[in-house]
Amino acid sequence: MAILIDLRSDTITRLTREDLDNIDVMRICDSGFDVDPYVAELEESCARLFGKESAIFLSSGTLSNQIALRCLAQVGEEVITGAGYHIDFFESSQIASCSGIVLNAVRTTDGILRLPDIEAAIDEKARWSSMYAEPRVVAVENSVNTYGGAIFPLDELTAIARFCRERGLYLYMDGARLLNSCAATGVQPDVYAAGCDLISLCFSKGLGAPFGSILVGDSRHITKARKYRKWYGGAMHQAGLMAAIALRRLPHWKLRLTEDNDNARRLSEWLDPSWNQPYRTQTNMVFLRTRDASRLVRELVLAGVLAVAWTKDLVRFVTSSVVDEIAIRTAASIINRFAPLAMDADVRGARVSAGGIP
Ligand SMILES: Cc1ncc(COP(=O)(O)O)c(C=O)c1O
Repeated sequence: MAILIDLRSDTITRLTREDLDNIDVMRICDSGFDVDPYVAELEESCARLFGKESAIFLSSGTLSNQIALRCLAQVGEEVITGAGYHIDFFESSQIASCSGIVLNAVRTTDGILRLPDIEAAIDEKARWSSMYAEPRVVAVENSVNTYGGAIFPLDELTAIARFCRERGLYLYMDGARLLNSCAATGVQPDVYAAGCDLISLCFSKGLGAPFGSILVGDSRHITKARKYRKWYGGAMHQAGLMAAIALRRLPHWKLRLTEDNDNARRLSEWLDPSWNQPYRTQTNMVFLRTRDASRLVRELVLAGVLAVAWTKDLVRFVTSSVVDEIAIRTAASIINRFAPLAMDADVRGARVSAGGIP
């Protein structure tokens, strides 16, 4: 097999020699005892970027989600969120077992949890009775992974934030890929963050750092988050090693993620029109609906394209710094060879198609 174009995720990026050479290893200390300069600078930079008081460096987006909800809600209280958001799709067991919090995951048509959805989720139960779980948090995601990287519209978020303030609810944003949305819309991170009590961001996705996530908010919540980071075993010792790379990548977010968004748009445009693309590509993802996602993925691997069978009938392609426009052009032409799969499960009869590639 001559080529392998990796579109499985934006987490598959590799470290560069430069990343390592630029770390002043002598500055790194044990964050358990001392203030690591790289960690401190990263936390301060992120607090500034999001216009918040404070930030905490965490090992993963999952840990950010877990700690954020743990900080904002008590055992037995309810988090209203979108069905399919990461905290529901992948983390419902963890939330139940680590925090004893109840998820009320609302199904939406386009992945955007709107104010009427939240009001309905509250009003569908007689909340004045103490029998029911008490809503405490609204949790949104931006961009929305399971809905093709959809951008959470700012006006919807602003309406939700106002409602949360009026009703004494907290608002959390899982912003693992928020900067993809910012790059696409031109909306600055602090504008999205303004109405949120806590907001997270991953460094290990499009930014290309090997790991890490940041959780930002006011000092009261971040102080609590420091306690839970310790409780959950997430307090790392020489964390500066990882923070240094995230710190180096962060200032370049706009250029870096615009490139990924552009490449995903190209892929979407260059795919044969017979493919069923269930979501309009808004950031760095393209989804295809097919009868047998695992089978399509197996065939694509043999042809040189790596993708993920997201569900039984959805295949996900994600752009990252490991692919450029030329790789995307090649990937589109390879994927288009299997265009009959859009309707038909028989891969072997695939015709060769130039698709929409100019
Ligand atoms: C929206 C979203 N939130 C959270 C996470 C979890 O991040 P991590 O893999 O760093 O735990 C992911 C991972 O892909 C994600 O897509």
